[in-house]
Amino acid sequence: MSNKLTINWDDFLTNYWQKKPVILRNAFSNFIDPISPEELAGLAMEEEIESRIVTNKNGKWDAKYGPFIDFSDLGEDHWSLLVQAVDHWHEQAATLVEPFKCIPQWQFEDLMISYATQGAGVGPHIDNYDVFIIQGKGRRRWQVGDRNPNYKQFSAHKALLHVEDYQPIIDEEITAGDILYIPIGFPHNGISIGESLSYSVGFRTQTSQDLLSGFADYIIDNLPNGIFYQDPGLKLPKDPYLIQPYEIEKLKSQMIDLINNPALFNDWFGKHITMPMHELNIIPVEPAYDLDEFEAILKAGAELYRVPSIRILKIGDTAYINGKKIPLPMTTINLLCETEVLCYKQIQDDVTLDVMLKFVNLGYWYFAEE
Ligand code: SIN
Ligand code: CO
Repeated sequence: MSNKLTINWDDFLTNYWQKKPVILRNAFSNFIDPISPEELAGLAMEEEIESRIVTNKNGKWDAKYGPFIDFSDLGEDHWSLLVQAVDHWHEQAATLVEPFKCIPQWQFEDLMISYATQGAGVGPHIDNYDVFIIQGKGRRRWQVGDRNPNYKQFSAHKALLHVEDYQPIIDEEITAGDILYIPIGFPHNGISIGESLSYSVGFRTQTSQDLLSGFADYIIDNLPNGIFYQDPGLKLPKDPYLIQPYEIEKLKSQMIDLINNPALFNDWFGKHITMPMHELNIIPVEPAYDLDEFEAILKAGAELYRVPSIRILKIGDTAYINGKKIPLPMTTINLLCETEVLCYKQIQDDVTLDVMLKFVNLGYWYFAEE
């Protein structure tokens, strides 16, 4: 059974989204944890899954990265286990992000789950993303401060960036089914009261630095011939050592024209934004199916499942998945975005079959049983 979220999105977006933190009490009524601490520990034993254990025993902070093989000497309290991108690996846990799919999906990052013991937390810090922290089993006390660019941050441990003391604007306990929403930049600290589970649905935007450097790499790869500055109307200037304002404007236009070219910018952004932010459960088909074999499996009734949380997004009249363009018409693309399980009759035309064969061989969709 999946949990049902009740939230007034209009009110939330108007008053809180990227503006201020808020506690949404009982947003999931009768919340049921979709994963157990034991299952979470099992995921943290896997090589490809990012996990951390943070301890704060007697005021001393420590952090270790997984995979872990043993949890037995951690003691009863003051430690927590945090596992990133659980939506990529655990089907039931992934259902928790479903109610948040109305938020632009290009900004979605992952579902991070933490199991914490009495007194545990990761310490006071500031995140570079917006997060909905859903409280599961147990209770947590959250102290959230106001946004302020002058907070001093320091390393409490080489893997833990903490923030100096701040005045809380929220200081409350939350229990199962409550959500704490924290926009980017607000300092916060969550301390577990007894054993608890927290589910963080994270949204990450793009920095100007990432945009510029990513786009520059794309331009270098895709336009290998230099595009040279030209000024055939040049008049001798009074001061040849002075770069003239009109020349600065022309140089800026030279760059901005590339950004304003949709064939370049959209294609780059589609590829860039669908690249995975965390390892995916992708297993390429080995040896690859040929078309006849692929069609025969589908005709026999096998269904195709999309890899959980693989990034698939549309820009204008095209779409991208996992950094690759999907060369199909919009009606098919809409189907691929909206439907996580496909059957033969939905993709049986020759062009779609051919494209899907390529993506299935890459491992982006898979047959449940073979
Ligand atoms: C946690 O779940 O322990 C930490 C979440 C956070 O503060 O970002
Ligand atoms: Co945080």
